[in-house]
Amino acid sequence: MRRELICVVQHRLHDKRMGDEVMNIPRLGVGLQFNPSLMDWFPFLDQSLDALEILFDGMMAPLDGPGLMLPTMVQTMDEVVARFPLVGHSNYGGDFGFDELASTPAVRRHVPLARAFGVPWVSNHCFYSDDSWCDVWSSPLQFTQAEVDRLAVRARALQDAYGVPLAHENAAYYRTCPGSDMPEEDFLARLVEQAGTWLHLDLHNLYANAQNHGAAGYSITRFLDTIPLDRIACIHMAGGRWLDNQYHDLHDTPVVEPVWDLLDDVLSRAHPGAVILEYETESLHHHDGVLDIPRSIDAILADLERARSAWDKAYGPGNRQTTRAEAA
Ligand SMILES: [Fe+2]
Repeated sequence: MRRELICVVQHRLHDKRMGDEVMNIPRLGVGLQFNPSLMDWFPFLDQSLDALEILFDGMMAPLDGPGLMLPTMVQTMDEVVARFPLVGHSNYGGDFGFDELASTPAVRRHVPLARAFGVPWVSNHCFYSDDSWCDVWSSPLQFTQAEVDRLAVRARALQDAYGVPLAHENAAYYRTCPGSDMPEEDFLARLVEQAGTWLHLDLHNLYANAQNHGAAGYSITRFLDTIPLDRIACIHMAGGRWLDNQYHDLHDTPVVEPVWDLLDDVLSRAHPGAVILEYETESLHHHDGVLDIPRSIDAILADLERARSAWDKAYGPGNRQTTRAEAA
């Protein structure tokens, strides 16, 4: 790891202490997910972002080899560390799988990466996964009290290992896990209460589930009225599409309109640390067409501006990382 990166990391770790006093969420503002699939064409480094969400899965060294981070990612991370406040995210940590926690990618790679980059929180999907990584999409948790009890123990232990808040992201799923006997929102509320952990609220996942499970009683209103809104560490915004009579969380469109309405609602009732926009393709679908790269970039920038406006409307001007810096 280069000297510049080490200096930044040491600076960020300087005042970090273990214990409840660090379990709070800094209010950063609006940012992007730093998705490796966008890095070749989206000008991340030219943006003024309040936060950049880094994906540990895409930068970690393999479990069966030495090292913490892929050598090919070192220079890139040097640049983003110097440019943006970072927050941590993963999809394949194995947080909620059945492997021994100490053997998971979360403990063996994500925890040291989170400490190295000094992220203020880490989030992960509410999926089952193991070290094969092959079955994570889409393997929603079984919503039962027995799983609340089992997973709360893992979640608390993992959060202790991170030393910063661990937030569980509500998943988009196609079928409810067999054996579930309570609504997702009740499950999540009980989980964070028992574990002392946090939530990562993906508003597009909520929307997708309402499309796919609305007839079965899935209710966004009930979801938001049930989860502890004061435990929301971060919000995800994204888009998706209908394919073969199923609504998919593809992240291949601009943020869809109903999700903007949800953002205004949640920001009026909660105060998360960041709103992060997610995209996963170089050619966004929009109005039944496919955008070229320049227009995809424009669409992302327009979404960013709209999200900033929503944040500023909720919390007032000068309340984001970048606008605070400008004011200072
Ligand atoms: Fe998400």
